[in-house]
Amino acid sequence: MAFLFQMKLNFIDLKSQYLKYKQDIDREISEVLESTQFIMGSKISELERMLADYVGVRFGIGVSSGTDAILLALMAYGVKTGDEIICPPFTFIATAEVISLLGARPVFVDIDEKTYNIDPSLIEDKIADKTRGIIAVSLYGQVAEMDAINSIAQRKGIFVIEDGCQSFGAAYKGRRSCGIPDVGVTSFFPSKPLGCYGDGGMVFTDDEEIAKLIKSLRVHGQEKRYQHKYIGINGRLDTIQAAILIAKFRHLDEEIRLRETKGSYYSEGLKDVVITPFMEEYNTSVYAQYSIMTDRRDGLSKYLNDNGVPTAIHYPAPLHLQEAFSYLGYREGDFPVSEMVAKGILSLPMSPFITQAEQDYVIGKVRGFYKSG
Ligand SMILES: Cc1ncc(COP(=O)(O)O)c(C=O)c1O
Repeated sequence: MAFLFQMKLNFIDLKSQYLKYKQDIDREISEVLESTQFIMGSKISELERMLADYVGVRFGIGVSSGTDAILLALMAYGVKTGDEIICPPFTFIATAEVISLLGARPVFVDIDEKTYNIDPSLIEDKIADKTRGIIAVSLYGQVAEMDAINSIAQRKGIFVIEDGCQSFGAAYKGRRSCGIPDVGVTSFFPSKPLGCYGDGGMVFTDDEEIAKLIKSLRVHGQEKRYQHKYIGINGRLDTIQAAILIAKFRHLDEEIRLRETKGSYYSEGLKDVVITPFMEEYNTSVYAQYSIMTDRRDGLSKYLNDNGVPTAIHYPAPLHLQEAFSYLGYREGDFPVSEMVAKGILSLPMSPFITQAEQDYVIGKVRGFYKSG
């Protein structure tokens, strides 16, 4: 399809979403304002119950961000200096950053070249005496290979945390992201599949002991008011954010359906010119990002940007090559798949509200770029 005019797209259309749910969201916010219950309270427990039921676990614990959700989960497992935690190097830095913050060591394991999630066949070799657990990231909206990861962990007696910050609502073999391993965590950062209007996150688990610990650790390790049993943090979910999430959650299933439709539409239109997201047949994706692999990323992204199509790179450098992790002693070449994907990955505009005309425009521009040589 040839477009003679130029469109100007949003990378993620949060404005259309707000306008559609405005009445509901504004009412939820004003209920918090009227109640003056700004910290914790019934909105937090209502949201925790709703989302834990949705994920299919007993406990949901609202926390201040996805980063703090991973941190608190590691704290609940008592991760400390000298411990080792396995995770992929191709993820947002938060996954590994919190391991280092606790004085433990991130031990990277390369990703699968089709799904871009941690490659379970490489995990066992990296398990040593000091290994306490695995953080598997469900990148771009597709759940990592949890059955294989869980079974390795069970055999070795270590824990598994799913970093589901990009995959809330996705399904894996009929089960929901965040409800499959010992602990699942997610982020409510505004651009996420279920996003609030600030920072927020949640930890999910069936383990009563871990849930109890996290509930205490998110309030300075307190058990009763001003009685502190542990060293914790201020890691509570903000009550206004919880209210916004309650309103937005009512539309989540419909948004996920739209995300799937839009993701498939992109793939249909692009699969013969670039590498489109690979989906295991037993997985559904929530397309937190719609990311393609291209051998001409700089040229393509410039061409798209010049034509009103914003793009993003998730992520331009794997974690083992980040300065912050230089102390780990990894080198270029250590994780070839992560390095290859970091060189070619490019995210296109994606949200449940992107229109078919906008998608046709993006598809037309990508195809036009390749056609023009
Ligand atoms: C894979 C992954 N892990 C962790 C995080 C951290 O979440 P937050 O930004 O809510 O702290 C993000 C969010 O960007 C993420 O994408």
